[in-house]
Amino acid sequence: MADIDFTAQTTIVTGASSGIGTAFARALAQRGSDVILVARRLDRLQELASELEREHGVRATPVALDLSERGAGQALAREVAARGLAVTGLVNNAGFGTDGPFHEEDPDRLQEEIAVDVANLVDLSRAFIEPLRQSGRGILVNVASMAAYLPGPDMAVYSAAKAFVLSFTEALWYESRSSGLRVLSLAPGLTRTEFFDDLAGGAYDGRYQTPEQVVETGLRSLDRGNRRPSIVSGRGNAIAVELGRFFTRRRAVLLSGAFGARSRNAAAVPAPTPAPAGRQM
Ligand SMILES: NC(=O)c1ccc[n+]([C@@H]2O[C@H](COP(=O)([O-])OP(=O)(O)OC[C@H]3O[C@@H](n4cnc5c(N)ncnc54)[C@H](OP(=O)(O)O)[C@@H]3O)[C@@H](O)[C@H]2O)c1
Repeated sequence: MADIDFTAQTTIVTGASSGIGTAFARALAQRGSDVILVARRLDRLQELASELEREHGVRATPVALDLSERGAGQALAREVAARGLAVTGLVNNAGFGTDGPFHEEDPDRLQEEIAVDVANLVDLSRAFIEPLRQSGRGILVNVASMAAYLPGPDMAVYSAAKAFVLSFTEALWYESRSSGLRVLSLAPGLTRTEFFDDLAGGAYDGRYQTPEQVVETGLRSLDRGNRRPSIVSGRGNAIAVELGRFFTRRRAVLLSGAFGARSRNAAAVPAPTPAPAGRQM
C-alpha cells in the first residue's frame, strides 16, 4: 500500500505550539501538506510557521485560539473559510491533564480540561468532518492516551476524557470506511513534552518516547491502509494495554492506582536501583 500523498492537502494541527503537535506539524509539512497551526501561544505558532514555510515550501497558517472556549470548532471553521483555505485533514492533538484526588481538584480547571480534551475535540471533528470526507484522501487523527485504556485514580477526569476520545474515534473510523477518510485514535504513553509542567505531581517515572516517535507511529499506521481504528505508540506500551484486557475491572483499577502512585513516588525521589515500569500517560 502506497504512503498517503499529502501534497496539495491542508491539515489542521491543534496544540501545534509544543510537543507532539509541533512534531505532527513538522512531519506533515515535510511530506508536503500545507498546515494550519492552532494553539493559544501565537508567537510559537508564528515561529513554527516561518520554519515550515522556509524549510518545506508549504503554506503554514498560524491561528491563535483558546480551545477551552465553547464552540471553538465552529469558530475555527469560520476563520479558515474567511482565509479561503480548504481543509482536507485534522489532527486533534491539543490537550492537557489534571491530577490529584478528585475531591481536591479545582472545578473550573476540570471544566477546561473537559472542554479542551473532549467537547472541542468533538466540535472540531463535527465542524470539519464533511470537507474531510469530501476530500476523500485526508486524515482525522485524535490524540488519546494510554490512560484511555484504564481508569486512572488521581487522574480520574483525564483518563475518562481520553477513554471518550478512544471510543468516539473508533466509531468514526467505522463510519468513514467507505469515504476515503482515514481516521485514527493515537495513544501515546509517556512522552517527553511540556505535558508534565501542568501536573501538580510533575513528571512520572518510566520510559519516555520522543514526540517524533509518537507521530511516526501514527503516520505509519495511516500509510499502511488504516486497518486499525486505534494504535498505542511504543511496543512496551502496546503490550501493557493488551495485558490490561485480562484483568477484571476491580483488579484493573487497583493496579492502575498502585502503579500511578508508585511511578510518582519513584519520580519524586531518585531510586538507587532501576524503578519498575509505572503508569503510562
Ligand atoms: N506527553 C505525554 O506523556 C502524553 C501522553 C499521552 C497523551 N498525551 C496527549 O498528547 C497531546 C499533546 O500533548 P503534549 O504531550 O504534546 O503536551 P504539551 O507539550 O503540553 O502540548 C499541549 C498542546 O496543547 C495546547 N493546548 C492546551 N490547552 C489549550 C487550549 N486551551 N487551547 C488551545 N490549545 C491548547 C498547547 O498550546 P498552548 O498552550 O499554546 O495553547 C500545546 O500546544 C495531548 O492531548 C495529551 O493529552 C500526552
